[in-house]
Amino acid sequence: MSVNVVVLENKAAVAKKAADMIEAQVKAKPASVLGFATGSTPEGCYAELAARCKAGKVSFKGVATFNLDEYLGLDGEHDQSYRYFMNDRLFNHIDIRPWNTNVLNGVAADPGFECLAFERKILACGGVDLWLLGIGNNGHIAFNEPGSAPDSRTRIVRLTESTIKANSDGRFFKNPLEVPHYALSAGIGTIREAREIVLLATGDGKADAVKAALKGPMSLDCPASLLQKHDNFTFICDKAAAAKIS
Ligand code: GLP
Repeated sequence: MSVNVVVLENKAAVAKKAADMIEAQVKAKPASVLGFATGSTPEGCYAELAARCKAGKVSFKGVATFNLDEYLGLDGEHDQSYRYFMNDRLFNHIDIRPWNTNVLNGVAADPGFECLAFERKILACGGVDLWLLGIGNNGHIAFNEPGSAPDSRTRIVRLTESTIKANSDGRFFKNPLEVPHYALSAGIGTIREAREIVLLATGDGKADAVKAALKGPMSLDCPASLLQKHDNFTFICDKAAAAKIS
């Protein structure tokens, strides 16, 4: 089945559409297992979901979540950790039970075991119903950098210079020297097992990655392209991110 590509006017419309899809999923199955991503791109979607939950339109009381990745060496109190990000942007503002939110522990005594336990917990929860993703400028998904295997699982990964630079441009870390060089990341195989994938891309900085992901061959050079054959995959872009695919 081909990828369902949705091109919308702007970032706000992308956030709303993604929130609509998550709301529909949770309404259809209140005990949904959701996969979440960090980064600037999904922030608008999380704000939408928080507002809808506050307004009583959707409840996350029965939901369990798994997050894609975490920096190795950062604990959840660190303001650049992905645990902190998720609490700050979403979990603290919705009615989800905190113990049902799973973010890899960046300071686990045994990071390899932490990755294995994460995979096992996804299985124990019955697999992920819908995984929301962003995309890096170099086509990475989660922290699966170019070269990652299509069947890779949750593991310790090394970040590329381009990702370190992108994540220290002032939006998150202020200085590349502060960015950990390693992370724990769900693998491409882990992500591909989700029953539905929704990938968001906004802004002209993502136009080349979007083109490679959708129009290029399935290639290790662009990790997002390895999702092309997923049978329930929606790629939501704003016009700027879609500039090179039309
Ligand atoms: C990070 C995250 C990815 C995210 C990417 C793009 O590297 N690990 O999950 O998709 O950044 O982030 P942004 O949305 O800020 O461009």
